[in-house]
Amino acid sequence: MFKNQKILSYVALILGSFAPAALLHAQTTTKLTLQFDQPGASVSPRLYGLMTEEINYSYDGGIYGELLRNRSFKDNQKAPDHWRLLKEKGDTSAIMLDYKNPVNDALTTSLHLQVAAGDKKTGIANDGFWGIPVKPSTTYKGSFFARAGQVNNSTLTVSIEDTVTNVAYASAIVTGIDNGWKKFSVSLTVPATVKPTSATRFVIRPNAAGSYWFSLVSLFPPTFNNRPNGNRADIMQLLASMNPAFLRLPGGNYLEGEMFSTRFDWKKTLGPVEGRPGHKGTWGYRSSDGMGLLEYLLWCEDLHMEPVLALFAGYTLNTDHIEAGPLLKPFVDDALEEIEYVTGDTTTVWGKRRALDGHPAPFKLNFVEVGNEDGFDLSGSYDGRFAQFFDAIRAKYPELQVISTVGGKDWLGQRVPLTKRRPDVYDEHYYRSAFDMESDADHYDKYDRKGPKIFVGEWATREGKPTPNFNAALGDAAWMTGMERNSDIVVMSCYAPLFVNVNPGGMQWSSDLIGYNTLNSYGSPSFYAQQMFNNYKGDKVVNITGEGIPTQLQRLSHKDSVSNVKPKTYPSLFYVGTRDSRTGTLYLKVVNAAGSAAPVSFNFNGAGTLKSNGKIVVLKAEKPEDTNSITEPKKIVPVTSVLKGIKKDFNYTFPAYSISVLQIEAK
Ligand code: AHR
Repeated sequence: MFKNQKILSYVALILGSFAPAALLHAQTTTKLTLQFDQPGASVSPRLYGLMTEEINYSYDGGIYGELLRNRSFKDNQKAPDHWRLLKEKGDTSAIMLDYKNPVNDALTTSLHLQVAAGDKKTGIANDGFWGIPVKPSTTYKGSFFARAGQVNNSTLTVSIEDTVTNVAYASAIVTGIDNGWKKFSVSLTVPATVKPTSATRFVIRPNAAGSYWFSLVSLFPPTFNNRPNGNRADIMQLLASMNPAFLRLPGGNYLEGEMFSTRFDWKKTLGPVEGRPGHKGTWGYRSSDGMGLLEYLLWCEDLHMEPVLALFAGYTLNTDHIEAGPLLKPFVDDALEEIEYVTGDTTTVWGKRRALDGHPAPFKLNFVEVGNEDGFDLSGSYDGRFAQFFDAIRAKYPELQVISTVGGKDWLGQRVPLTKRRPDVYDEHYYRSAFDMESDADHYDKYDRKGPKIFVGEWATREGKPTPNFNAALGDAAWMTGMERNSDIVVMSCYAPLFVNVNPGGMQWSSDLIGYNTLNSYGSPSFYAQQMFNNYKGDKVVNITGEGIPTQLQRLSHKDSVSNVKPKTYPSLFYVGTRDSRTGTLYLKVVNAAGSAAPVSFNFNGAGTLKSNGKIVVLKAEKPEDTNSITEPKKIVPVTSVLKGIKKDFNYTFPAYSISVLQIEAK
């Protein structure tokens, strides 16, 4: 594939690891010949999708609209984390957790507020997920369960206040509290004159002395498509701009849980939120389960994605597992019921339940995945577990494609054997450096075409925190050229993790595609690279022959140099071409990972008429370390311009550190 590479490697080695990339470039002319007259492989319509799980405050404190933290008081058994008592000096009022007066079996904990004097100053306050976002001309919907010790005609003042000035940005009065649990709702409208801020808290203040209990205290901003219990609009808009084909849900490690009791137990995530107990999440914090199975499906519906449903397969992160056989059967049955909840019509038990939950129409499902990263299960039980799930799913849902998490290559490049059943698709994961991605960009060129299809279900170039920098975007783009060129076998891919709350303590895993804080969100350079790759692609690969492909030298760490490791030479220019077989439009993607411009001479072999004006979209940076951030969200964004002078022999110079898409109209 990369001809002249050997000679260049030799030159590079002589020049040593500090040779500037430009010297290496000067050796030959780079030529890319596109074979329009050769039929290319098909590009999967599902090539680019999304992967999601509760990590880095992805749902609570992320895309899920809930603004209050620890809304059901279950985060910590000993103290009401994120809640505090507001009182004046000398006031003897108090707050404490109460387990004796549950609202129901799910809301087992409440916050007991004892107000000593009804001076309207005493109250409870929630600090949200690093503040509550206050935006002008915005109405927030609040709700909570409350009861009083005795009927005292007290009113409750509910407000969003500034933490410094105590001024209320919006408030409402609630009446009718008595000594039995009742649900109350309020609308809080922030006036147009207010400037956006998150130095805020949510407050409830009774106006009379006495005892009060609260549970499931909730506050929502306007959500995407105005869904009740829905998603944060700005993050959904970022996702919509990527046009993702599918959503892999609900994980990741979050599917498995640390132990059986903390797996994603989908049945406990259905129905009104007051009936959901929540559970201990996988990544160090509790999950409200406000993002339940139906919410995932509605998320798919809102963004026109299909769900790729991961099924819990009897293995947890603490390596506990259930061997195939009768003990595993309840979990297999549970998975079949989950599929029925997603796809069954209303005559089925679980389809009927979905209708009761508000969505009578079944969802379209084509792929299910059995487990997550079961290669880590060293007991070898997955072979049998997979077979048992596979047989049951095939028997009841023969139209579904079943994905195995074992059998492909794991993220260390190891192949873990699967012997009992042949899955339809293998899920492979790759978390790597830019060097690893770029030096292995031709990974799938050499792949077995006779085996199951490949789902690259988690992948990322992990450089940059909390979100990837431009060097990572270059690694990602190089890797995507390889997946796209081989999309006859790589039928699906999704980057992971998708989200990170950039506030201190929000991140458990670095290099996440989209970052946000309480008020704003942004896409990393890797996000824009994916947006470009997905939004500009055809349905057929165009075969390309490359000559004189420039190379770069591996940057070694101090440790490598000391142990006398020689730097590797590998390509610095990556490319893929696809065509829309209906319109003839060509999408040519070129990644220049080098620090100098890359002149390329194109030959469009066998092309009929070419329109002389096309379009070029470029994402570039001055330095590989450059990045976007919450304070500089648009430092690196794609720039679109007219591409002129297109003809069969065409020269173009790609800027240093750039990712480009050329859109050319060809007949
Ligand atoms: O994406 C972060 C984690 O990486 C996922 O939860 C897991 O599947 C993988 O190991």
